[in-house]
Amino acid sequence: MKIEIVSCLNDNYSYIIQDELTNTVGVVDPSEFKSIDDIIFNKYQKLDYILNTHHHNDHIGGNQDLKKKYKAKIVASKIDKDRIQNIDLYVDEDTKFNLGNIAFQILFIPGHTKGHIGFYSKEEKIIFTGDTLFSLGCGRIFEGTFEQMFSSIKKIKKLPKDTKIYCGHEYTKSNYEFCKTFDTTNKELPKKKLWIEDRIKKGLPTIPVTLEEECNTNIFLRCDNIALKKELKMEDSSEVLVFQRLRNLKDQF
Ligand SMILES: [Fe+2]
Repeated sequence: MKIEIVSCLNDNYSYIIQDELTNTVGVVDPSEFKSIDDIIFNKYQKLDYILNTHHHNDHIGGNQDLKKKYKAKIVASKIDKDRIQNIDLYVDEDTKFNLGNIAFQILFIPGHTKGHIGFYSKEEKIIFTGDTLFSLGCGRIFEGTFEQMFSSIKKIKKLPKDTKIYCGHEYTKSNYEFCKTFDTTNKELPKKKLWIEDRIKKGLPTIPVTLEEECNTNIFLRCDNIALKKELKMEDSSEVLVFQRLRNLKDQF
């Protein structure tokens, strides 16, 4: 399987995926038409599927023009049926969706929006997390509750640790600044900082990252960490309360 990372708009990532065996081509969250079309037209000359994690414009902006030009099928959540136009294939928690020979399982991960989904392939060890989980961060809670968002993040956390995470934005550097401010004893963070700076200097994305790396560095995946809870003076609080506190702090950061 081939995955191509496409930088779109200010800091969005869209992903072009190809199952080489069957020459099936898809795009995850096309923010805009042109940057995707340039690659699709020059390299693949076809687009079979458009996969949307949620309805926000910076994730679906290219949908209609790409659909029109390539007759691609839009795959999205049932819950977003009134907010994403011309969906061809409605999917839901645990729906199986095949892109050629690549089997995707849909994870329902609401919180950022009420219809947010992730596309997970166990065999390929990848997940497209949209705006639910970023490298070193998580999405803002626009439509859900803290409990919902936290349980969505925990669902991702339970996947095999070598799963590669492909998220919707390049926010890693600013997310790092937040993590290091509140997770000061985390020894993995200084190493991560050097790596992030090196990637940015070379003009390369900081995506993908493995879930294992994220569990060691992403503060929102560490709400059960004793040292972190101590720093927040929340030793006796539940994980979800720690999450709520961190999300509120991040909103004001
Ligand atoms: Fe979003």
